[in-house]
Amino acid sequence: MKLKRTHLLNELSAKNDGEEVILNGYVNRRRDHGGLIFVDLRDRYGITQIVFDPEVAKEAHELAEDIRSEWVLGVKGVVRKRPDGMANDSMETGEIEVLINEIEILSKAQTPPFEIDSEDNVSEELRLKYRYLDLRKNKMKNNLVLRHEMIKFIRDYMSENRFLEIETPILIKGTPEGSREYIVPSRLYNGNFYVLPQSPQQLKQLLMVAGMDRYFQIARCFRDEDQRGDRQPEFTQLDMEMSFVDEQDVMSVNQDLLMKLIKKFKPSAKLTFDEPVVMTYHDAMNKYGSDKPDLRFGLEMEDVTDVFENSEFKAFAEHAKSERGVVKALKVAGAADKFSRKDIDELTEVAKIYKAKGLAFIKVDGDELKSPIVKFLNEGELQELKNRLALQDGDLVFFTADEFEIGCESLGQVRLEIARRFELLEASEFALCWVTNFPMFEKNDDGSLAAMHHPFTSPNLEEIGMLDSDPLLVNSRAYDLVMNGNEIGGGSIRIHDQDLQAKVFERLGISKENAELRFGHMLEAFSYGVPPHGGIAWGLDRLIMLFAEEPNIREVMAFPKDSKAKDLMLGAPSKVDETTIEESGIKVVE
Ligand code: AMO
Ligand code: AMP
Repeated sequence: MKLKRTHLLNELSAKNDGEEVILNGYVNRRRDHGGLIFVDLRDRYGITQIVFDPEVAKEAHELAEDIRSEWVLGVKGVVRKRPDGMANDSMETGEIEVLINEIEILSKAQTPPFEIDSEDNVSEELRLKYRYLDLRKNKMKNNLVLRHEMIKFIRDYMSENRFLEIETPILIKGTPEGSREYIVPSRLYNGNFYVLPQSPQQLKQLLMVAGMDRYFQIARCFRDEDQRGDRQPEFTQLDMEMSFVDEQDVMSVNQDLLMKLIKKFKPSAKLTFDEPVVMTYHDAMNKYGSDKPDLRFGLEMEDVTDVFENSEFKAFAEHAKSERGVVKALKVAGAADKFSRKDIDELTEVAKIYKAKGLAFIKVDGDELKSPIVKFLNEGELQELKNRLALQDGDLVFFTADEFEIGCESLGQVRLEIARRFELLEASEFALCWVTNFPMFEKNDDGSLAAMHHPFTSPNLEEIGMLDSDPLLVNSRAYDLVMNGNEIGGGSIRIHDQDLQAKVFERLGISKENAELRFGHMLEAFSYGVPPHGGIAWGLDRLIMLFAEEPNIREVMAFPKDSKAKDLMLGAPSKVDETTIEESGIKVVE
């Protein structure tokens, strides 16, 4: 190229009046005003208006007649202040324009499948197929800049706090985080496979055994799971681990970093709380029906189980009497008139998606409670509800009766849906909380136990005695960092005792042989001296999504997969040739 830029496209101002400059960029827009041709030239940094005048440079003007949007140009010319009244305040370079005397067309462009300089709604399929064009849009570019700056800030912070950034391998052995894993066949050892990490969990613990004391990594993780707005098959964690710590140490470093990120990148964000509130898993479920409660709004649920223990209303009594059963109530003050039958039916469908058997409701009309279920309730129960929920004329109350998790979660989802309908979810507000004291185990459908976090998480030491007798009552030393109803981080204090680790494997139904086969290296490592340690990993994409006020993580990733885990731009996954398959030692079943 002949014309190599002297300035970026956000740099020129009235101070440069009269200077000769060379600019490079894309044609953002071209306007032909009879004689004069105006072009907005765009690069990553900004836009500068250039002008072609046939009186000044006939040849350049002729060439400029052909140029179209997205062509790539080199131009040489002289900066001039725009005449009085013609300055454009909305443009960084709006005081000036550059009068061109030479042009070099560096690349022509066919008409793009969508306009770059427009806010039109383009289908996501098209955007992902032509991601390199989508990323030319200002909003997308800004998201990637924000991402870069936040990660740089994080790296600096971690480094200042004695954390070492250490890369861990991608071709490893499985590490359980509860998802299906991606596997890579081995050419040299046919029939054997590498597994892509769901997280660097075991490796970072081994780094603690190795004495690294404080580790972090901006780590790529791979999980073969159903896609959602907040999930991708590969995503990035801020992963960290610390030695000689307890929960408080890990939480306070993370909280400090998060508050500093907000101060730096979202100084105008409204904070619901000055710093993250701490809530147990049980409280979060009980009051908000979620282990990642959205605390930007109230609408707390109440527990009214005991009101219905002896009720004639079987649907409620059955659960009120059972050991794990609950009856949950959600009062929406003054909402009786705001919800039609149809609205209530829709909310019932929401509850049912989360396995509720139904969604009962009561409307308060003056002194009277009205509802299809009122006829099943006696005067005492109705009075007790009025008192407990401080019911007033015009209130609406929803109920679910079920096992604890289902009853809470389904009503919690109704709570969220109501907040959406009432537009209570303000993207520029941040509500932060820690959720702690998770149960150690949850039950699989077949009744066996699964780790709620992962098998390396330490149980509460006072509760270890119940591992055999009552494993479901044992809580763990895990903590999640939650922001606006999104789990942005999860971690725990780990088991650092071989015997306890072996015991937890056993409770998870992992036989001794199997534990040896899958995790023998961990148990062996622990036999060589291991500091008490713990850590956490943040879903960086999720955090950046919230900072960018975007609705899903694809908007803050350069090249995400679509909702069916496909890369539409590259066309992955795709077939590979026969030889490669043969060498991998695998057979494809059509
Ligand atoms: P966990 O499995 O909770 O913990 O993951 C940590 C955080 O990673 C984010 N995340 C995801 N983001 C995008 N797409 C996904 N598919 C996805 N899955 C998870 C979430 C989550 O909070 N090794 C442990 C951490 C530890 O114990 O230190 C782990 O990976 O924001
Ligand atoms: P039924 O007598 O089964 O028709 O139920 C009366 C009302 O109670 C209906 O509105 C149901 O949706 C609701 N209902 C039934 N079972 C439950 C439950 N377990 N939790 C909440 N509401 C329920």
